[in-house]
Parts: sequence; C-alpha cells; structure tokens
Amino acid sequence: MNLRFPDHFIQEVVDRTDIVELISRYTELRRGGSNMMGRCPFHSERTPSFSVSPTKKMFFCFGCHAGGSVITFVQKAENLDFTDAVEYLANRAGLPLPKESENAMASGGVTRKRVLEMNLEAAKFFRACLFDPAIGGEGMRYLQGDRALSPATIKHFGLGFAPNSFNLLTDHMHRLGYRDEELIAACLCGKSQKTGRAYDYFRNRVIFPIIDPSGSVVAFGGRVMDDSKPKYLNSSDTPAFKKSRQLFALNFAKNHCSERMILCEGYMDVIALHAAGFPNAVATLGTAITSDHARIFSKYTQKVIISYDSDEAGQNAANKAMRILGEVGMEVRVLKLNGAKDPDEFIKKLGADRFRRALDQSRTGFDHKSEQILARYDLSVGAEKIKASNEICALIAEYWSAVEREVYIAQVSKQLDLPSDVLKNSVEQMRRRQKRAHAERESREAVATVKNFGDRVNPEAAKDPRAASAEEAVIGLLLMFEEYRNAVERGEIALSADDFVTEFNRRVFEALMRGHAAEGGLHPELLGMEFDPDEMGRIERAEMTRRQLTQNGPEVFRSAVSVLQDAKKKENTQGGDLNERLAYLRDKKSKIHKGKADNT
Ligand code: CTP
Ligand code: MN
Repeated sequence: MNLRFPDHFIQEVVDRTDIVELISRYTELRRGGSNMMGRCPFHSERTPSFSVSPTKKMFFCFGCHAGGSVITFVQKAENLDFTDAVEYLANRAGLPLPKESENAMASGGVTRKRVLEMNLEAAKFFRACLFDPAIGGEGMRYLQGDRALSPATIKHFGLGFAPNSFNLLTDHMHRLGYRDEELIAACLCGKSQKTGRAYDYFRNRVIFPIIDPSGSVVAFGGRVMDDSKPKYLNSSDTPAFKKSRQLFALNFAKNHCSERMILCEGYMDVIALHAAGFPNAVATLGTAITSDHARIFSKYTQKVIISYDSDEAGQNAANKAMRILGEVGMEVRVLKLNGAKDPDEFIKKLGADRFRRALDQSRTGFDHKSEQILARYDLSVGAEKIKASNEICALIAEYWSAVEREVYIAQVSKQLDLPSDVLKNSVEQMRRRQKRAHAERESREAVATVKNFGDRVNPEAAKDPRAASAEEAVIGLLLMFEEYRNAVERGEIALSADDFVTEFNRRVFEALMRGHAAEGGLHPELLGMEFDPDEMGRIERAEMTRRQLTQNGPEVFRSAVSVLQDAKKKENTQGGDLNERLAYLRDKKSKIHKGKADNT
C-alpha cells in the first residue's frame, strides 16, 4: 500500500514521463533494435550495456544489473525514496499533486492523520484499562511484579492493557465516531470472517505503544502474560506505520544519542535499559534490521552498539546487523553479555554499572568476528592454527584502510603467536587475490558465475542456486506473459508462494500475483512501492534474462515450476531437524521466563 499517492496517480505520472527524454539527461542514448542503448549512468563502463525500452518504460543495465521503471531511475539517479521520486516526476510533468483526501482513497478512505487520531484514542483507552484495577489488575501485576517495572517507567512509556474482550475497544471507538472500516485499516480491529464486523485486535495483553520521533503513536505491540502464543502481537503496516522503518523508543533516544546508540532485540530490553539510565537504547519491532533502519540510525548518530540476545540466533542476527549498519558508514560495536541471556536480564541480575562497563568494553566488528573464528579452532594443533590464521587474514584483507589492517595484524600476531610480517605477507597476497577476483567479477561472465555470492538483494540464493534460478525463470516468465499469470491464478498450474525457496522471490511472486489480480492488472512500476531500487533491478533482470532466450513456452514454465517444487521438498526434509531445534529453543526460553516468574 502506498502511503501517499493512489495507484492511478502513480500510473499517470509514469504515462506522462518520456523515459528516453528523462534518461537522456544523464547519458546519451542511441537506437539499438527496438530499445535504446547507452553507457550506464550507475557504473563506469566503456561499451554501452544500458538498455531502455520506450514501450515498456523500463530500463536495465546488463553490466551492473540496475533496472526498473522511470520511478526507480529517479530514485537511483537523484537519491530519493519512492514517494519523493513520484513527486519529482509529477512536478516535471506539470501534474498537480493529489490532495490528502484523495490519497486516502488508496488505503480504503483512511488517511495517516485519521489513523494517528485513532491510535491516540486507543493508547488512552489501553492506559486507562491498565490503571483500572478491576480491568487491568492482572496486567499491572505482570508489569510491576514479573517484569519489575516501576510506576514511573510504566507511565514514561505509556504502557497499557488490552482487556480480555472482543468488543470493549471497538465499542469505545464507535462511541468516539470511528467506523469499522477505519478501525480495521488502523489495525486496531480485525475483521470477522463471519459477520464482516470489526472486533478488538489486541486482547488480554499488556500494550507497548510505538511512538515515532515526532511524538505520534504509530502502532502497538502487545505481550501475553503467560506462555501462550504468539508471545508478541504487533500492528501490521497501516497508512501511518511501516514496520521496517520504525525503531521502538526512538522518540526518547533521539535526544540522548549524539555519542552512540544501543540497538537491542526486544521492547523489554529497551525499557529496562532506559529505566537503568541508558535512554539511548532502541529496538527494531520484531523484524531483522533493514537498510531503512540503518539510514535512520545514520541520521541520528555516528556509532551503534549492538546488544542482542546472547543465544546463537542473537549472535547471527548481530553479524547481519553489523554488515547492514557498516554499509551506511556507521561505526559499529558489539556488546557481549556474559552471564545473561539479554540486556533486560543482565540489568536485573548484574546491575547498571556492570552494563555500563560492558558498553565501554564493547568490541569492534573485527574483534567480534575474529574471536568467533578463533573459538572454532584448537590453536595448539598446527593444522588448525594454519586454518585459523588463513581465515583471519582473509578477514583482515577485506579492510581497505592500511592503518586498520596494520592494527589488526599486530593484534592477531600476538593472539596466534606468529610473526607479524608473515601475517602481513599473507594478508597482502589475499588482497591481491581478492582484487583480481574483483576485477574478474566486473566482467560479464564472472557476474554470471558468482551471481549468487554475497548477494545483497537475495542472500538466500547462495544456499540453493539452482532453485533460485528456477525461481527467477518463473518470475521472468510471469512478468512477460499474462497467460502464465492467468494459469497460476486459476490454479491450472499449481504454484503458490509456499513453493518458493528464497524469501525475496516469494515476496516478488506474491506482489506480482497481487498486481495481476488488482483492478487494471499488473503495472510493474507499482512494484517500486514495495521494492527498493536494488530489488527492482533484480526483478527487471529476471525478465530481461528471459527476453534474451528463445525458449519461453509453457513447457519451459512448467519445468521451472517443477524444479522449484522439488527443491522445496528437499529443503523441507532437510530442514526438519532445524525446525525441531527451534521449537526446543523456544520451549526452553519460555521455561526460563516462567522460572523467573516463579522466583518473584
Ligand atoms: N517479537 C515479536 N513477535 C514474537 C516474538 C518476538 O514481535 N512472537 C519481537 C518483539 O519485539 C520482542 C523481540 O521480538 O520484543 C524479541 O523477542 P524475544 O527475545 O522472544 O522476547 P524478549 O525481548 O525476551 O521478550 P520477553 O522478555 O518479554 O520474553
Ligand atoms: Mn529476548
């Protein structure tokens, strides 16, 4: 759902834009077959591999794989987000921007402003419930007892309680004049399958309002007070809320983060840290950190200390967060929690002073990663020491600052008890090798062979390249031919989102089929609302790859679908024990929490 412009307006903007004229301002285009070709404005090249289709109004670079609609082009060329790029093109085409009331039609008649009003009323309602012993007694006991929060902290965060009822909030909001459709659009209510009427979405949970930096309540999270599932329930995206762009407690942290910010996993971690004197802590909302989050961090601070759960899942997530934050140029450190499973427990067990010390001792990404490598090897065994040294040298070789490499080499030389000039030779050799590999990668052939390695758009592609390429074939063919989309929609070809192995391609498939089912059919430029420019490039690549092939008939489509389904079966059988392990861990986690509850 677009938060500002209705679909028809976006399409009109695209229709009124001459893609060749637009792009010609950035690079010279010449006719090449039915397309226009030129040198790519997004990477440096001597021979043109940048192609523009005036009829489809899409572009694609065969060199760097940038691609997408005119909107994607403006996003990349002018460094704008989707909505701003639409606005830019609208101004260029002399189209007046639609009014807020008209935009609202894009989301069932509900504006951002209206959602914020409803959220504010709901937040007041939840808070009143919490403070009414007859209704919120259990919630208050949970927060003050089990979670040991002070009344001041409860008030500071505006915590609340959603009563165990399907209609108390709904009735209250009706009395204030809000209609069912509005409450459903704001995700305060669900819609009954049977009657089509609204019912309270959050029930029998303590409520955490999510407040944006301007002070608006944009969404809610709700936690159960026992072991039932799901542990947390969060608002879905609404006209006022996009989960991947919001950080819990940023409204407070933004005033205390000039030096550094702390990134945690959970609401309770953040609340415990604020209460203990660390008001610069924030958390993502039950999602992994995205590049949108990273850009938000870079707006407010220079340095982020990652303080995730100490279990394996948390540490893996920390590695990923390090990379994403590093990509926007943040200084990133990682905090190691010894003796506690998360910051909340750490503060309770060991106190704020110990946490402050841990913060000051937080380590750079390099120390964190090199320690992970060292821990895997027995350094008293020669062969293992060689392996460890090779891995660490490869890690050091990735740093492009000579000073950093020098510092790390000196450090590792002590840890491994190896002369630093030996390590240095090894690092430089690896750099030469990496450079060569990099140069090769630039050539088109190499792009094909390593295409799934270190893939930022679709990191899972490396797991099963064969399945990933079958997915791309399916997506390319669906983009090219409406017949195939019809066949899938009618079930003539049994293909569903569950058949996809990688999350990215599954999202693309769902978006394609949604676009296909929508009034007016599939408009690829509208995919730009959901997918960033890099992702749009990948989607365009899937189609361009198919267009260059001569065999695109139904049998090709069917065989790609069956490759996919076989791969999925394999994944399911192999993934079995992993799922079991996850279930075990979840169970263990909830027992720990229960144990804690019993002690208080
Ligand atoms: N989360 C979620 N939905 C779930 C589980 C978790 O949205 N079903 C999100 C919440 O934002 C939560 C965070 O992921 O705060 C971390 O999850 P977890 O570590 O399981 O919870 P804790 O923070 O330990 O929560 P608690 O201490 O309340 O058990
Ligand atoms: Mn946790």
